[in-house]
Amino acid sequence: MKKTQFGLLFLMFVLVLAACGGNDSASGESDDNGGEEIQETTIKFSHVVAENTPKHQGALAMKEYIEEESDGKITVEIYPNSSLFGDQDEYQNLASNNVQFIAPDISKFVGNNPQFNVPSLPFAFDNDAAALAFWDGEKGQEIMSSLTDDGVLGLYVWPNGGKHLTNNEVKIDSPEDLEGLKFRTQGGQVLESIYNEMGAGSESIPFGELYNALDQGVVEGQENTFSNIESKKFDEVQQHLTVMNHTRVDYGLFTNTEFWDGLNEPTKEIVQAGVEEATEVAREQAKALNDEGFEIIKERGNVEITELSSEQVQEFRDYLEPIWDEYEDEIGSDVYEAVRAANDEHGDT
Ligand code: SIN
Repeated sequence: MKKTQFGLLFLMFVLVLAACGGNDSASGESDDNGGEEIQETTIKFSHVVAENTPKHQGALAMKEYIEEESDGKITVEIYPNSSLFGDQDEYQNLASNNVQFIAPDISKFVGNNPQFNVPSLPFAFDNDAAALAFWDGEKGQEIMSSLTDDGVLGLYVWPNGGKHLTNNEVKIDSPEDLEGLKFRTQGGQVLESIYNEMGAGSESIPFGELYNALDQGVVEGQENTFSNIESKKFDEVQQHLTVMNHTRVDYGLFTNTEFWDGLNEPTKEIVQAGVEEATEVAREQAKALNDEGFEIIKERGNVEITELSSEQVQEFRDYLEPIWDEYEDEIGSDVYEAVRAANDEHGDT
């Protein structure tokens, strides 16, 4: 996507934010911050994943752009691998402006707004393009701008992609195979219901603790993208992998409103352009890094890999279909409609 398209998208986001009663100064109209000079400042970007992931590549692109364009007046410090904050505390620290950017898996925010459950709905999107069309569209932008009361501003969604099941016990090729197993989830009611529906248990565990939880048998399995499985070496402590694409990891890039509003015009221009550059890179890298991750997992040979036939995938789809009805009131039929529209326009079917 070209910068001009991102500019239009950002304008749309600002309009949605204004319609939701958001702070106008987040729109870049904060003339009262004054100053013609770029503000000397340090920006912290904290995340929980490894370096060879689309999220980290996006963060690196942001750092490079902002530091270069500001002639070093702005420094961007990136903290990968939960080295500054983890799943348990990054939101609070963003709200308190102890960190200026985070990009968590959106499903971790379902406690703030159940509509962040969308990527956890079974087989919600046919592909990354459909997911992005939803998040860049009106409903997605409304959801992204729903955290402003906490001082948290949603900027863009970066896709990672479809999640796949790994476990230590059995080859999984039908819903009944999960019975009696316990899976780690990113959190949220929808993921919990998915496992309940298949007779399995679930537990939400921070990403930074997942390798040990799998190794020590706290849970038997987990669901994740290939790039996360590969870069965190979960296949070292798992025996089976089923290629599922049944749910997704999509990241929300969030900043702190006070930080954002406190930037003067020349500084905000650079930071905003850096955010757009990062978004372009993260979006470009997601599929390639997942494809590469899958190849590496195959080469390492630690897990038995099961690729489902289309009939087997359909069996999972049918089995999990009731979840959609269960959550329609909470998530909203207007949101469901927007998901369907995104698939109609960009999906495979
Ligand atoms: C992430 O990709 O940021 C982490 C996903 C997870 O918690 O499994």
